[in-house]
Amino acid sequence: MTARKIIIDTDPGQDDAVAILLALASPEDIDILGITCVAGNVPLELTQKNARIVCELAGKNDVKVFAGCDRPLRRDLVTAEHVHGKTGLDGPILPDPQMVLQDAHAVDFIIDTLRAEAPGTVTLCPLGPLTNIATAFEKAPDIMDRVQEIVLMGGGYFEGGNITPAAEFNIYVDPQAADVVFKSGIHIVVMPLDVTHKALVTKTRNDAFRAIGTPVGTAVAEMTDFFERFDKEKYGSEGAPLHDPCVTAYLISPNLFKGRHINVEIETQSELTMGATVADWWGVSDRKPNALFIGDLDADGFFSLLTERLARL
Ligand code: RIB
Ligand code: CA
Repeated sequence: MTARKIIIDTDPGQDDAVAILLALASPEDIDILGITCVAGNVPLELTQKNARIVCELAGKNDVKVFAGCDRPLRRDLVTAEHVHGKTGLDGPILPDPQMVLQDAHAVDFIIDTLRAEAPGTVTLCPLGPLTNIATAFEKAPDIMDRVQEIVLMGGGYFEGGNITPAAEFNIYVDPQAADVVFKSGIHIVVMPLDVTHKALVTKTRNDAFRAIGTPVGTAVAEMTDFFERFDKEKYGSEGAPLHDPCVTAYLISPNLFKGRHINVEIETQSELTMGATVADWWGVSDRKPNALFIGDLDADGFFSLLTERLARL
């Protein structure tokens, strides 16, 4: 089977970093056409720097990294240093990147790539706020029909929110952008908190990362040691939830995941519930299904895939 062509749109973020490493470790499954960065966990100048740090950690400094939008479509930027630390990649000490940042704007790279590649052959993998994706769709509506699929991390239904009681961070930061994406008509696979909160880096699992004994294994263990504080304090969970790597793992082994084809729409009117993903899990509305909303995963299978692949780098 040929590798799936993807664009990763990201706001690294420790969990974004692990998702990118998993993709870089899996060339037989994933062909990364480029990594586009967006403001989210930390401001853009840090997310684009962190993406390059991660590529160099993996020894893949030939990957094209682009800077994109530095703020949401309409709202002020909300960041998450309280979760990811002031650098966005707190935990390991990693060298500043030497690889260049591409000159083109991320939005133009997304547009040009979708126009250049055969229709229906490129998957978009957003791991942060959807500002770059929505901006590309608004600037060049013709590209929407050319997207194979969108596989994204964002939202929550049974789990509620992690930045407000109603909303998950990626959707909350730019709800207008999320609305554009969820109304695009493109098939979307959604990895919400409902499943990512079941992908917890327990001590045993983090020890397995450390036992890889490579700079990548050690850095991932140190990232999750840092990143888990927020969720342990807030949820009393057993470890850091690996939100974004669920996206990459789905591309490699979709059978690890289970969900339902349902309608998902985004709250963009009420400040109280701004950014909520209104998931019609029980099919009570006549709204057309537009997403595969994932609710469960084989966590042991996920972590053995992740550990095996990270050991390749
Ligand atoms: O709510 C979790 C999501 O927000 C993850 O993608 C994390 O990296 C942050 O972007
Ligand atoms: Ca992210």
